[in-house]
Amino acid sequence: MNKQFIAGNWKMNLTLDEARDLATKICGTLANSDVVDVGVFPSYVFLNDICGILNGSNVVVGAQDMNNENSGAFTGEVSGPMLRDVGCTHVIIGHSERRIIFHETNSIINLKIKAALSYGLSPIFCVGEKQEERDADRTNDIVGSQLSCGLESLTAEQVKELTIAYEPVWAIGTGKTASPEQANEVHAFIRSAIESEYDNDTAKNIRIQYGGSVNPKNAKDLLGQPEIDGALVGGASLEPNSFLEIISAAAGL
Ligand code: PGA
Repeated sequence: MNKQFIAGNWKMNLTLDEARDLATKICGTLANSDVVDVGVFPSYVFLNDICGILNGSNVVVGAQDMNNENSGAFTGEVSGPMLRDVGCTHVIIGHSERRIIFHETNSIINLKIKAALSYGLSPIFCVGEKQEERDADRTNDIVGSQLSCGLESLTAEQVKELTIAYEPVWAIGTGKTASPEQANEVHAFIRSAIESEYDNDTAKNIRIQYGGSVNPKNAKDLLGQPEIDGALVGGASLEPNSFLEIISAAAGL
Protein backbone atom coordinates (compact mmCIF):
# COMPACT_ATOMS: atom_id res chain seq x y z
CA MET A 1 0.00 0.00 0.00
CA ASN A 2 1.29 3.48 -0.88
CA LYS A 3 1.35 6.35 1.59
CA GLN A 4 -2.12 7.89 1.65
CA PHE A 5 -2.62 11.32 0.07
CA ILE A 6 -5.69 13.28 1.20
CA ALA A 7 -6.41 16.38 -0.87
CA GLY A 8 -9.08 19.02 -0.26
CA ASN A 9 -10.57 20.57 -3.39
CA TRP A 10 -12.16 23.78 -2.14
CA LYS A 11 -13.67 24.56 -5.57
CA MET A 12 -15.31 28.04 -5.84
CA ASN A 13 -16.07 28.26 -2.12
CA LEU A 14 -15.12 30.24 1.00
CA THR A 15 -14.29 33.87 1.69
CA LEU A 16 -10.67 34.88 2.18
CA ASP A 17 -11.14 34.91 5.97
CA GLU A 18 -12.75 31.48 5.93
CA ALA A 19 -9.99 30.10 3.71
CA ARG A 20 -7.29 31.49 6.02
CA ASP A 21 -9.06 30.10 9.05
CA LEU A 22 -9.44 26.65 7.48
CA ALA A 23 -5.75 26.54 6.46
CA THR A 24 -4.65 27.71 9.91
CA LYS A 25 -6.71 25.02 11.67
CA ILE A 26 -5.49 22.25 9.36
CA CYS A 27 -1.90 23.36 9.82
CA GLY A 28 -2.26 23.71 13.59
CA THR A 29 -3.67 20.23 14.01
CA LEU A 30 -1.34 18.42 11.66
CA ALA A 31 1.75 20.31 12.82
CA ASN A 32 4.63 18.11 11.77
CA SER A 33 2.64 14.94 11.24
CA ASP A 34 3.71 13.10 8.13
CA VAL A 35 1.92 9.78 8.41
CA VAL A 36 -0.40 10.92 5.63
CA ASP A 37 0.31 13.38 2.81
CA VAL A 38 -2.16 16.27 2.88
CA GLY A 39 -2.87 19.00 0.34
CA VAL A 40 -5.34 21.83 -0.11
CA PHE A 41 -6.53 23.32 -3.39
CA PRO A 42 -7.97 26.82 -2.84
CA SER A 43 -9.27 29.22 -5.47
CA TYR A 44 -6.56 31.02 -7.47
CA VAL A 45 -7.12 34.32 -5.67
CA PHE A 46 -6.42 32.76 -2.27
CA LEU A 47 -3.32 30.79 -3.27
CA ASN A 48 -0.76 33.41 -2.29
CA ASP A 49 -2.24 33.77 1.20
CA ILE A 50 -2.73 30.07 1.79
CA CYS A 51 0.79 29.24 0.59
CA GLY A 52 2.05 31.81 3.10
CA ILE A 53 0.09 30.22 5.96
CA LEU A 54 1.18 26.68 5.10
CA ASN A 55 4.76 27.51 4.18
CA GLY A 56 7.13 25.23 6.12
CA SER A 57 4.34 22.82 7.13
CA ASN A 58 3.75 19.36 5.71
CA VAL A 59 0.58 20.49 3.96
CA VAL A 60 1.08 21.09 0.24
CA VAL A 61 -0.87 23.66 -1.75
CA GLY A 62 -2.07 23.45 -5.32
CA ALA A 63 -4.40 25.06 -7.83
CA GLN A 64 -7.59 23.57 -9.22
CA ASP A 65 -6.55 24.06 -12.85
CA MET A 66 -3.98 25.90 -14.97
CA ASN A 67 -3.45 26.96 -18.56
CA ASN A 68 -0.94 24.97 -20.59
CA GLU A 69 0.72 28.10 -22.01
CA ASN A 70 3.61 29.78 -20.29
CA SER A 71 2.37 33.37 -20.69
CA GLY A 72 0.62 35.59 -23.22
CA ALA A 73 -2.73 36.95 -24.32
CA PHE A 74 -5.04 34.52 -22.52
CA THR A 75 -7.37 36.81 -20.59
CA GLY A 76 -8.54 35.29 -17.34
CA GLU A 77 -6.09 32.39 -17.36
CA VAL A 78 -3.32 31.41 -14.94
CA SER A 79 -0.07 29.70 -15.95
CA GLY A 80 2.16 27.11 -14.32
CA PRO A 81 5.02 29.58 -13.67
CA MET A 82 2.54 31.86 -11.86
CA LEU A 83 1.48 28.96 -9.65
CA ARG A 84 5.11 28.12 -8.90
CA ASP A 85 5.77 31.77 -8.14
CA VAL A 86 3.23 31.86 -5.30
CA GLY A 87 4.46 28.56 -3.83
CA CYS A 88 2.20 25.89 -5.32
CA THR A 89 3.67 22.43 -5.77
CA HIS A 90 0.56 20.67 -7.11
CA VAL A 91 -2.29 21.24 -9.55
CA ILE A 92 -5.55 19.39 -10.26
CA ILE A 93 -5.95 18.67 -13.97
CA GLY A 94 -8.99 17.34 -15.81
CA HIS A 95 -11.55 17.55 -13.00
CA SER A 96 -14.97 16.47 -14.31
CA GLU A 97 -16.33 19.98 -13.67
CA ARG A 98 -13.65 21.32 -16.04
CA ARG A 99 -14.40 18.59 -18.57
CA ILE A 100 -18.19 19.01 -18.47
CA ILE A 101 -18.85 22.69 -17.68
CA PHE A 102 -15.79 24.14 -19.43
CA HIS A 103 -15.61 21.58 -22.27
CA GLU A 104 -12.02 20.49 -21.61
CA THR A 105 -11.04 17.67 -23.92
CA ASN A 106 -8.63 14.82 -23.27
CA SER A 107 -6.10 16.47 -25.57
CA ILE A 108 -6.20 19.80 -23.68
CA ILE A 109 -5.80 17.83 -20.47
CA ASN A 110 -2.76 16.06 -21.95
CA LEU A 111 -1.20 19.46 -22.79
CA LYS A 112 -1.91 20.73 -19.28
CA ILE A 113 -0.35 17.66 -17.65
CA LYS A 114 2.79 18.05 -19.77
CA ALA A 115 2.96 21.78 -19.02
CA ALA A 116 2.49 21.20 -15.27
CA LEU A 117 5.31 18.65 -15.22
CA SER A 118 7.59 20.92 -17.20
CA TYR A 119 7.14 23.63 -14.54
CA GLY A 120 7.79 21.17 -11.70
CA LEU A 121 4.16 21.00 -10.58
CA SER A 122 2.81 17.62 -9.58
CA PRO A 123 -0.59 16.99 -11.22
CA ILE A 124 -3.59 15.25 -9.72
CA PHE A 125 -5.07 13.89 -12.93
CA CYS A 126 -8.81 13.19 -12.65
CA VAL A 127 -10.71 10.52 -14.54
CA GLY A 128 -14.19 9.06 -14.11
CA GLU A 129 -17.32 7.94 -15.86
CA LYS A 130 -20.82 9.47 -15.96
CA GLN A 131 -23.85 7.60 -14.64
CA GLU A 132 -25.11 6.69 -18.12
CA GLU A 133 -21.68 5.35 -19.04
CA ARG A 134 -21.62 3.13 -15.94
CA ASP A 135 -25.18 1.98 -16.68
CA ALA A 136 -24.08 1.02 -20.21
CA ASP A 137 -21.16 -0.95 -18.74
CA ARG A 138 -18.66 1.43 -20.32
CA THR A 139 -16.75 2.47 -17.18
CA ASN A 140 -13.47 0.79 -18.17
CA ASP A 141 -13.70 2.04 -21.78
CA ILE A 142 -14.23 5.63 -20.66
CA VAL A 143 -11.64 5.62 -17.90
CA GLY A 144 -9.20 3.72 -20.15
CA SER A 145 -9.45 6.29 -22.92
CA GLN A 146 -9.23 9.24 -20.51
CA LEU A 147 -6.03 7.66 -19.21
CA SER A 148 -4.42 6.84 -22.53
CA CYS A 149 -5.26 10.24 -24.09
CA GLY A 150 -4.38 12.20 -20.94
CA LEU A 151 -1.04 10.46 -20.59
CA GLU A 152 -0.17 10.36 -24.28
CA SER A 153 3.58 10.58 -24.95
CA LEU A 154 4.48 10.79 -21.25
CA THR A 155 7.41 8.69 -20.06
CA ALA A 156 7.29 6.37 -17.05
CA GLU A 157 9.50 8.89 -15.20
CA GLN A 158 6.91 11.61 -15.80
CA VAL A 159 3.98 9.38 -14.87
CA LYS A 160 5.70 8.67 -11.53
CA GLU A 161 5.23 12.37 -10.65
CA LEU A 162 1.44 12.14 -10.97
CA THR A 163 -1.39 11.22 -8.69
CA ILE A 164 -4.48 9.85 -10.42
CA ALA A 165 -7.90 10.61 -8.94
CA TYR A 166 -10.73 8.25 -9.85
CA GLU A 167 -13.87 10.31 -9.48
CA PRO A 168 -17.08 8.78 -10.82
CA VAL A 169 -19.05 11.82 -12.01
CA TRP A 170 -22.28 10.44 -10.53
CA ALA A 171 -20.71 10.44 -7.06
CA ILE A 172 -19.42 14.03 -7.05
CA GLY A 173 -21.34 16.35 -4.76
CA THR A 174 -24.34 14.02 -4.85
CA GLY A 175 -23.96 12.20 -1.55
CA LYS A 176 -23.88 8.97 -3.61
CA THR A 177 -20.55 7.19 -3.15
CA ALA A 178 -19.18 4.30 -5.11
CA SER A 179 -19.13 1.30 -2.79
CA PRO A 180 -15.61 0.50 -1.57
CA GLU A 181 -15.64 -2.60 -3.81
CA GLN A 182 -16.86 -0.67 -6.88
CA ALA A 183 -14.15 1.94 -6.36
CA ASN A 184 -11.45 -0.65 -5.72
CA GLU A 185 -12.36 -2.47 -8.92
CA VAL A 186 -11.86 0.66 -11.06
CA HIS A 187 -8.63 1.49 -9.21
CA ALA A 188 -7.34 -2.00 -10.01
CA PHE A 189 -8.28 -1.45 -13.65
CA ILE A 190 -6.40 1.88 -13.69
CA ARG A 191 -3.33 0.25 -12.17
CA SER A 192 -3.39 -2.55 -14.72
CA ALA A 193 -3.75 -0.02 -17.56
CA ILE A 194 -0.68 1.83 -16.24
CA GLU A 195 1.20 -1.46 -15.97
CA SER A 196 0.48 -2.42 -19.58
CA GLU A 197 1.38 1.05 -20.87
CA TYR A 198 4.45 1.45 -18.62
CA ASP A 199 5.73 -1.14 -16.16
CA ASN A 200 4.95 -2.88 -12.91
CA ASP A 201 7.03 -0.52 -10.79
CA THR A 202 5.27 2.60 -12.14
CA ALA A 203 1.86 0.96 -11.68
CA LYS A 204 2.60 -0.15 -8.12
CA ASN A 205 3.95 3.20 -6.99
CA ILE A 206 1.48 5.59 -8.58
CA ARG A 207 -1.04 6.87 -6.07
CA ILE A 208 -4.69 6.54 -7.04
CA GLN A 209 -7.10 8.63 -4.99
CA TYR A 210 -10.84 8.08 -4.86
CA GLY A 211 -13.12 11.12 -5.06
CA GLY A 212 -16.87 11.54 -4.90
CA SER A 213 -18.80 12.30 -1.69
CA VAL A 214 -16.01 11.12 0.61
CA ASN A 215 -16.90 12.03 4.21
CA PRO A 216 -15.81 11.08 7.74
CA LYS A 217 -18.33 8.22 7.81
CA ASN A 218 -17.31 6.42 4.62
CA ALA A 219 -13.61 7.34 4.55
CA LYS A 220 -12.28 4.37 6.51
CA ASP A 221 -13.98 1.74 4.35
CA LEU A 222 -12.98 3.43 1.10
CA LEU A 223 -9.41 4.14 2.13
CA GLY A 224 -9.02 0.64 3.56
CA GLN A 225 -9.34 -0.89 0.08
CA PRO A 226 -6.03 -2.26 -1.18
CA GLU A 227 -5.96 -0.21 -4.40
CA ILE A 228 -7.06 3.12 -2.87
CA ASP A 229 -4.19 5.42 -1.87
CA GLY A 230 -6.06 8.49 -0.71
CA ALA A 231 -8.98 10.77 -1.42
CA LEU A 232 -9.80 13.91 -3.34
CA VAL A 233 -12.39 15.51 -1.10
CA GLY A 234 -14.74 18.33 -2.11
CA GLY A 235 -17.60 19.28 0.23
CA ALA A 236 -16.17 17.59 3.33
CA SER A 237 -12.86 19.46 2.96
CA LEU A 238 -14.50 22.84 3.60
CA GLU A 239 -14.97 22.21 7.28
CA PRO A 240 -11.85 21.61 9.41
CA ASN A 241 -13.27 18.84 11.59
CA SER A 242 -14.63 16.72 8.79
CA PHE A 243 -11.44 17.10 6.72
CA LEU A 244 -9.28 16.26 9.74
CA GLU A 245 -11.44 13.22 10.53
CA ILE A 246 -10.86 11.91 7.00
CA ILE A 247 -7.12 12.42 7.50
CA SER A 248 -7.30 10.54 10.81
CA ALA A 249 -9.14 7.69 9.08
CA ALA A 250 -6.28 7.50 6.58
CA ALA A 251 -3.68 7.68 9.35
CA GLY A 252 -5.32 4.84 11.25
CA LEU A 253 -5.14 2.33 8.42
P1 PGA B 1 -17.27 15.95 -3.37
O1 PGA B 1 -16.29 16.46 -4.52
O2 PGA B 1 -16.41 15.34 -2.29
O3 PGA B 1 -18.00 17.16 -2.90
O4 PGA B 1 -18.18 14.93 -3.98
C1 PGA B 1 -15.16 15.72 -4.91
C2 PGA B 1 -14.46 16.40 -6.06
O5 PGA B 1 -15.13 16.98 -6.91
O6 PGA B 1 -13.22 16.38 -6.15
